Amino acid sequence: MSVVVPALHRDPVWGPNVEAFDPDRFTPERAAARPPHAYKPFGTGERACIGNRFALHEATLVLGLLLHRYTVDDHTNYQLKIVQALTIKPEGFTLRLRRRTPQDRAVATPGISAATAPATTMRAPGTPLLVLHGSNLGSTRRWADTLAARAEDAGFTVTRSALDDAADGLPTDRPVLVVAASYNGRPTDDAEKFVGRLDDAGSGELTGVRYGVLGVGDRNWSATYQRIPTLIDDRLAAGGAQRLVERGEADNSIGLAAGAEPGSTAPSPHCSTRSVRRRPRWRPPPPATGCTNSTRPTSTPPCTPGPSP
Ligand code: HEM
Ligand SMILES: Cc1cc2nc3c(=O)[nH]c(=O)nc-3n(C[C@H](O)[C@H](O)[C@H](O)COP(=O)(O)O)c2cc1C
Repeated sequence: MSVVVPALHRDPVWGPNVEAFDPDRFTPERAAARPPHAYKPFGTGERACIGNRFALHEATLVLGLLLHRYTVDDHTNYQLKIVQALTIKPEGFTLRLRRRTPQDRAVATPGISAATAPATTMRAPGTPLLVLHGSNLGSTRRWADTLAARAEDAGFTVTRSALDDAADGLPTDRPVLVVAASYNGRPTDDAEKFVGRLDDAGSGELTGVRYGVLGVGDRNWSATYQRIPTLIDDRLAAGGAQRLVERGEADNSIGLAAGAEPGSTAPSPHCSTRSVRRRPRWRPPPPATGCTNSTRPTSTPPCTPGPSP
């Protein structure tokens, strides 16, 4: 089957004026209202562009650096005219750049200063927390790093590890935070053993484990979006583990910058002020019953054995 991509990107699902430059077409709400396959600049399926995220990060970075350093002036009142070579590009398009001064920046960010930044409060001093990541290329691992750092700020004593390191058992003396990704619906290399073991977990085998899951995925893989985080969340619950927070989702298809502060906004490839789509807004689990420094005693063993292979 052949798909004419320029025609696809001008389909009526894009609205009445497809030629207008309108970054708001890519707001999470409007993107969710369109069929997921209406946008295919990077191809599709298993042979989709492997440079997809690199290209979007590079574009965001270059644009961010330029706008940070320069004010741009459309000195010719340019009207778009496209020329086609190997790719398409605007013909005869030039901008005049002027270096931004500290004064320009102060005007652009009213009210933002170190003095007004919220202070961190220690809410869980000494509470142990295990953060487990499943990551091939590092973005999910960076999410785990960010969440671990945030938890440490809140007072948790955090241990970090790959999911497979916990394939033989999950602790019951501390909450467990799983941050995982999928590749064509399959686990990352460092999570295969863990997911395989969960497949065989009997009911009640994970009693005493308390956990939360943050899934990192990409809606371009619409049929298997968030498959592994969802599977981990479901299987842990089915094995008798206690879900402390609803599963969170980070969607890379909207240009989510890996390592962006959870709960903040992140730069997007299409619109620099758009919020990160996250459902629901994710935070580290609260210090809960059964923690070693909890006032409530726990009778559960320190470690529930993992499901047998
Ligand atoms: C905005 C920039 C880019 C666009 C629009 C783009 C688009 C595409 C498209 C449409 C395909 C074909 C997918 C298919 O066959 O269905 C593709 C494949 C590919 N792209 Fe890109 N690409 C971009 C940047 C990059 C970069 C920066 C790299 C490398 C760092 C890269 C590496 C590749 C590779 C290796 C393939 C072949 C993948 C395979 O056949 O398994 N691309 N790209
Ligand atoms: C080849 C490939 C396949 C992918 N398959 C899926 C998928 O099935 N479901 C999904 O939600 N995300 C999928 N993604 C998106 C990745 O899970 C996402 O980019 C994640 O951040 C990768 O994590 P990592 O950088 O830690 O390896 C895929 C990405 C690539 C490059």
